[in-house]
Amino acid sequence: MFAIRLSGEEHHDTRVLPVDVSGVLAGGDEETAELVRTAEGAGEAGAVQVLPRPLRTPAKILLAGVGAGDEAGWRAAGAAVARTAAGDEPLHVMLPDRIAPAAVRGLAEGLWLGGYRFREAPKPPRSGAVTLTTPDPAAYAPSLEAARVTAAATWLARDLTNTPAAVKNPAWFAAQVVTEAATRPGVTVTVRGPEQLAAEGFGGILAVGGGSASPPRLVELAWNPPAASRHVVLVGKGITFDTGGISIKSTDGMKLMKKDMAGAAAIVAATLAAADLNLPVRITGLTPLAENAVSGAAFRPGDVITQWDGATTETTNSDAEGRLVLADVLGYAVAELDPDVVIDLATLTGANSVALGKRTAALYSQDDDLADALKAAGDAAGESMWRLPLPDDYVDYLRSDIADRHSSPAQGGAGSVVAALFLREFLGDRTDRWAHLDMSAPSWAERDDADLTKGATGWGVRTLVRLLDDLSRG
Ligand code: BES
Ligand code: MN
Ligand code: ZN
Repeated sequence: MFAIRLSGEEHHDTRVLPVDVSGVLAGGDEETAELVRTAEGAGEAGAVQVLPRPLRTPAKILLAGVGAGDEAGWRAAGAAVARTAAGDEPLHVMLPDRIAPAAVRGLAEGLWLGGYRFREAPKPPRSGAVTLTTPDPAAYAPSLEAARVTAAATWLARDLTNTPAAVKNPAWFAAQVVTEAATRPGVTVTVRGPEQLAAEGFGGILAVGGGSASPPRLVELAWNPPAASRHVVLVGKGITFDTGGISIKSTDGMKLMKKDMAGAAAIVAATLAAADLNLPVRITGLTPLAENAVSGAAFRPGDVITQWDGATTETTNSDAEGRLVLADVLGYAVAELDPDVVIDLATLTGANSVALGKRTAALYSQDDDLADALKAAGDAAGESMWRLPLPDDYVDYLRSDIADRHSSPAQGGAGSVVAALFLREFLGDRTDRWAHLDMSAPSWAERDDADLTKGATGWGVRTLVRLLDDLSRG
């Protein structure tokens, strides 16, 4: 990880000069300004040009394009510099005077996120010292700290999601949460194993986890600061591997299914980040953890399971497992935790990418304020989502002849929408204080792309950290 610090002094390291669409913003001499005037596209967000200066100091200048100079432009510049910088050479970024604090947050998040590598990868992550020079370092310290916590949380979510499923079984994931929580005062964790899940009636988690040699868990992570005014419950789908079960997936459909716990990883990381930032908001993070495996003990198409709230679900397709584990936990949250807001994140359907492509999550909520707040937090954080409807006339699709409802209706299409409607059934009297994010598509990057490193993206961490910050203020 880059060691980024703010300083009032200049150094002789490789110099990074931010350039926007109208030219060099800070620290350039006349010669550099002239070069930028003739260099095509130097100010475009994410463009980096290397200017070698033999026999002079500094010996190298990087021109880093910040586009319009907004937070997204600075984030793109940071990520591009992270990928361009050779080895561990110290970097020296000249910040323009009186730049907005958001620019520093964007730049630092871009550097850290773009420099990510999986903790088990053969190559270590990009590192080296980065000094941000400004006449007023103190003014930017909170932005740098917010960036540090957000990036570290995103790294954690990426590491958990990139971990192969042979390692990452439900017990392993639960143990990771316990370890992370142990270093944070004020954060508590409860882990329920199969016996306790059975005693308390978590029938969806037990059915889905029943086919695996690694039994399921439910992790309940809590941050409860004294000054909290609101209680936010975060729920994350934690299928540590999704074979589809008896309704088995194809080779191609299964190859990335170690990522089917990306929702759980994101809500755990965001909750820990809120604690690190000491945000005055109460958070309970719930992750149902199960492996959807194929075996003689696996649940079958046509089985009827009893969810935590007592309602029954006919499960005609064992590959629609995520909604079964989430249904238990959503029912439990509204009945037992008295939440002001419930948000769930889930790699729930392949239909997410059919509707919205590879980088955009589907957002569902009946609460316009909550939907707008999430969208705004995502926009600021650089994570994209788009709101889709919850049409009441599709609720009929969920009807079953032998149970209260059906988990995976054959008719209708709109797989992501129908899954959201199924989840809504378990919100009791809190349907108006709930949001669901189907983040199947943006949870994974097929290639390095700006602030995303190929593999798990940690999608949702950045959005949630901003949203929790907003909710803790007003
Ligand atoms: N985990 C998958 C959804 C998924 C697919 C996530 C591709 C990421 C990439 C989920 O459990 C699933 O299998 N959903 C089914 C639902 C269907 C059987 C009703 C789907 O989307 O096909
Ligand atoms: Mn599935
Ligand atoms: Zn799944």
